[in-house]
Amino acid sequence: MKTANEKKNKMTTSEKTSKYLMPNFGVRDFVVSGGKGSWLFDDKGEKYLDFGAGIAVTCLGHAHPRWAKAVAKQAAEIAHCSNLYMTRQQADLAEKLVEKLGPGKMFFCNSGTEANEALIKAARLYGKKVTGAEGKKFRIVSAIDGFHGRTLGALAATAQEKIQKGFAPILQGFSYAKYNDLKSFEEQMGDDVAAILIEPVQGESGVTPADPKFLKGLKALCKKHGALLLFDEVQCGIGRGGAFLTSQKMGVKPDGVSLAKGLGGGFPIGAVWLAKPVQDIFTPGTHGTTFGGNPLACAAALETLNVIEKEKLCENASKMGERLGRGLEKIAKKYPGKIRLTRGVGLMRAVLFTEQYPNAAVCKKLRENKLILIPAGCNALRFLPPLNVKASEVDKALNIFEKTIERL
Ligand SMILES: Cc1ncc(COP(=O)(O)O)c(C=O)c1O
Repeated sequence: MKTANEKKNKMTTSEKTSKYLMPNFGVRDFVVSGGKGSWLFDDKGEKYLDFGAGIAVTCLGHAHPRWAKAVAKQAAEIAHCSNLYMTRQQADLAEKLVEKLGPGKMFFCNSGTEANEALIKAARLYGKKVTGAEGKKFRIVSAIDGFHGRTLGALAATAQEKIQKGFAPILQGFSYAKYNDLKSFEEQMGDDVAAILIEPVQGESGVTPADPKFLKGLKALCKKHGALLLFDEVQCGIGRGGAFLTSQKMGVKPDGVSLAKGLGGGFPIGAVWLAKPVQDIFTPGTHGTTFGGNPLACAAALETLNVIEKEKLCENASKMGERLGRGLEKIAKKYPGKIRLTRGVGLMRAVLFTEQYPNAAVCKKLRENKLILIPAGCNALRFLPPLNVKASEVDKALNIFEKTIERL
């Protein structure tokens, strides 16, 4: 007779996942066992070109030797000590980010959602400070089809029915306007608006870059109404758009930024930067976190930023992004009945399919042909390779993509 333990260990990963994990991620049919650089390995020893990078996270590729060494070294010294104490790693990371983002201060958390949650709270405290009372200036205007996360605050800023559905009543104090439509934002503005929160490139809903003129217009609107301009660069930041922040490339300076995904190179960390005039908005006791910015997460992020600098990965993202973009344009032109269009910046690109070709099915076919992409809104698939992707890997991905599309 087998013991209960023996029976448990005979279960496959898939059986254990469906028995012990909540079903919120739907049915998953792929087991990852490892990765190296731009390649991902499954549990059967098959190798895949990973142009998803864990949804724009592993910006140095998998198992980068310098990153892995820095994480192991820090884990052997001290991983966590709480924010009751200071650590060199946190101070060094904050200094490095301020150097890159401009005069201001940092707050560290654990995810993109948490970073946006902090921005929302910062906007409310700012409104209270400038009016001298709570509840007078607290409204946040965000863009339709944006994505800011899944907690109740971030979800309230996420103007997508499919994300908000089931969670009524939605947190008050949010209004929505059309992306890349300055007039629509103008209509939503008033002196009760504390901030505009927006992605410089809408990622989840299908990789739509903002028009720089639109972002400049938002900056002027914020100035007129005494509101903060807050950029969610959780997905498009940390070099992905071909500059450290995509908004830097677009030439618009915000009052606050949220970061996560690529920041830790695969280690969970989120961050908020607030510009100098509002850098001290969080006074003692107004916000906090147990894990956020612990020495292990900060060491991982510091090494990620060091490698990005040393290996000139923002430049590589720009160059490889153009190569990828050009290749995708060519394929899109060749198959107009299958592909509607392609768009994006740097190494954040999408191909939008026609109705007859659902992105999930195409994604599966591509995976069978050993290329991993990520679905997005607008029936799109996203290309989000690591920032150190090689030209030969971009060409290989394009080749697999074209052959797969041809045979659809
Ligand atoms: C622009 C943007 N903001 C926020 C989030 C939420 O980040 P996280 O999943 O780390 O909480 C995401 C995640 O996809 C994102 O793309």
